[in-house]
Amino acid sequence: MLEIGFAKSTLPRSGALILLVGEGDKPAGLWAEADAATNGAIARAFSAAEFKGGKGKTCTVLAPGGDLTRVVAVGLGKTVDLTPLNLQEAGGHAVAAIARETTAAIAADSLQPAQAAEVALGAALRAYRFDRYRTKEKAEDKPRLSALTLMNADPAAAQSAWQPLSGVAKGVFFTRDLVSEPPNVLNPAEMADRCRALTEQGVEVEILGPKAMHELGFGALLGVAQGSVNEPRMVVMKWNGGGTTKPVAFIGKGVTFDTGGISIKPAGGMEDMKWDMAGAGAVVGLMSALAGRKAKVNAVGLVGLVENMPSGSAQRPGDVVKSFSGQTIEVINTDAEGRLVLADVIWYCQQKFDPQFMVDLATLTGAIIISLGHEHAGLFSNDDALSDKLIAAGKDTGEKLWRMPLDEAYDKQIKSEIADMKNVGGRPGGSITAAQFIKRFVNDKPWAHLDIAGMAWSTKDAAVTPKGATAFGVRLLDRLVAAHYEG
Ligand code: BES
Ligand code: MN
Ligand code: ZN
Repeated sequence: MLEIGFAKSTLPRSGALILLVGEGDKPAGLWAEADAATNGAIARAFSAAEFKGGKGKTCTVLAPGGDLTRVVAVGLGKTVDLTPLNLQEAGGHAVAAIARETTAAIAADSLQPAQAAEVALGAALRAYRFDRYRTKEKAEDKPRLSALTLMNADPAAAQSAWQPLSGVAKGVFFTRDLVSEPPNVLNPAEMADRCRALTEQGVEVEILGPKAMHELGFGALLGVAQGSVNEPRMVVMKWNGGGTTKPVAFIGKGVTFDTGGISIKPAGGMEDMKWDMAGAGAVVGLMSALAGRKAKVNAVGLVGLVENMPSGSAQRPGDVVKSFSGQTIEVINTDAEGRLVLADVIWYCQQKFDPQFMVDLATLTGAIIISLGHEHAGLFSNDDALSDKLIAAGKDTGEKLWRMPLDEAYDKQIKSEIADMKNVGGRPGGSITAAQFIKRFVNDKPWAHLDIAGMAWSTKDAAVTPKGATAFGVRLLDRLVAAHYEG
């Protein structure tokens, strides 16, 4: 992880300097000092580049004088509506502009200490890279930035504001690492093993294998798992930071690879299905984030981990399985496996923990990408208050949600001739019938289902998420907890 430090405001004489410039701001503080030290080179560059501090705009001034390698100005937009997210994005843009430097300093002297910490968070999030399997990349092609110093009037206060945020960043990286891993490495057992690392942070981790799940009666999850030589796991993670209050609960779909099973997927793009465990990955990273910042909440995280493979032992279209809830399911399409996994884990969660609410995350349907593209995750919920809190947390963190309907009218689409329900409802409203299916495993409890199929992986760089695994859900749900369920 990018090393973040805080220091008093003194104009660096060498290396890279980043200025945060609001629209309409006049040079002051370190900005004015830097301009004077470079004989007005910065002001001339801004004017030549027509840089006015617009949000997300940057202006790079190379070798402006002295031993400074570059000065990069990052636009903050109108500083009257400077939100934590705006500041994080500015930190992200700054890092993107200085990847060639080894160290850099950000002039955050015009900001409050807590605001400087938000800039640091954005910088750290953008600097993430999954490098494990590159053995031949030339040094000159690698991003070099290893340390970043933020200059502020009160570095000690900024440092303490950064403390919990760095816990969140580590949680995000935990998720991104899991989601980025190739599927031959990250099978269910390996993912469960990696969850054990959370014990070092004070999280209780319990792992159930196929035997325990068989004894419990997880027929829906086990039906998906039976086609793979890689055994399934369920991981239960508990963070006890909230005294005697009822826990909040998060459940994740963890299909470490989804071939579709006997209802096999087409070859093109199938490699994407390594990230079909991103819902589970987000739950794991969230537990790390909550523990990392010592959240005053009781939280449980449960993930159902399976691999969906075609084989001689795989389940067939037409099979009927009995879920842990007792309800039977006719498996029409083995590629609609995520809902089968969630059915048993959600039922278990509610029986075992009687939580205040449940939120599940799943890369559940291609249809949600048709509905919402890559800008919002789908939110389905039986509870307006929980939905509103989630939508607000989404706006705060930039992990945006859009509410979709639940309605009994869709139930006729998942009616089976021989079992209590079937696992697919046809093409119309494919994400909604999937949510209606999951709802049958929720007993009158506030619940929200987040279909993150369009959000878990990005093919483009964004301000605080480099392309690849986004860890969508970690910052969102950390914010939900922080805003409403602590203390
Ligand atoms: N994991 C997929 C959904 C998915 C698709 C996630 C594309 C990310 C990108 C899920 O298990 C699946 O295969 N869903 C089917 C459901 C259908 C058979 C009813 C789908 O969306 O096609
Ligand atoms: Mn599938
Ligand atoms: Zn899937």
